[in-house]
Amino acid sequence: MSKENIKKMSSELSQEKSEKQKRGYQELLQGNRDWVKTELDRDPDYFNKLAAGQEPDVLWIGCSDSRVPANEVTNTRPGQVFVHRNIANVCVHSDMNMLSVLDYAVNVLKVKHVIVSGHYGCGGIAAALSNQQFGLIDNWLRHIKDVYRLHSNELDRITDESIKLDRLVELNVIEQVYNLCKTTIVQNAWREREDLEIHGWVIDLKTGLVKDLQVTAKSSENLGKIFKLDESKVR
Ligand code: CO
Repeated sequence: MSKENIKKMSSELSQEKSEKQKRGYQELLQGNRDWVKTELDRDPDYFNKLAAGQEPDVLWIGCSDSRVPANEVTNTRPGQVFVHRNIANVCVHSDMNMLSVLDYAVNVLKVKHVIVSGHYGCGGIAAALSNQQFGLIDNWLRHIKDVYRLHSNELDRITDESIKLDRLVELNVIEQVYNLCKTTIVQNAWREREDLEIHGWVIDLKTGLVKDLQVTAKSSENLGKIFKLDESKVR
């Protein structure tokens, strides 16, 4: 093949690629128009109601993975679920983003349920379980390695790698539920009201079904002594 031909082929390929990219983007805008039409056909007042405000009962803290969208998984509508997502649904007590979402959800929206929702086959958990370097994200995944360390007695005994991964997904959710309970935000809310529950879920991508890990927390009762906080004197 001549140099010219190779050059021509590669320019055609890159043109095809850029058209595909443009099409993919246009599909999103078209998808939006289709969605608006569907909703308006169902209820001409839909967007007026949506614009009026939100009163969600649930805060969902889930993985950024594109396969686990909060509304679809729970068959809920816009306005019903307040959402925070990050890689591997980690709740770190120094993460201002997570804390701000949690504080707003608990103290302003007064949500009744906070759900930490992990999923089997989580790439973030798999990466944390490996020894490979992935870049900046390694620092985020460190939190999951810490979960492993807390449960290494149990996890080290599991020889099947996929079972080990599934179990680390579950243990990570449980630890994040515990992390939320340790925050002043949740502990102070429990002092004021009894209707706030923190739950841990895992979604099975192969069936779509949610497994409730039955770790629901409704008070600081089971928190280790070191994490229990007295009432604030500055409030
Ligand atoms: Co994930």
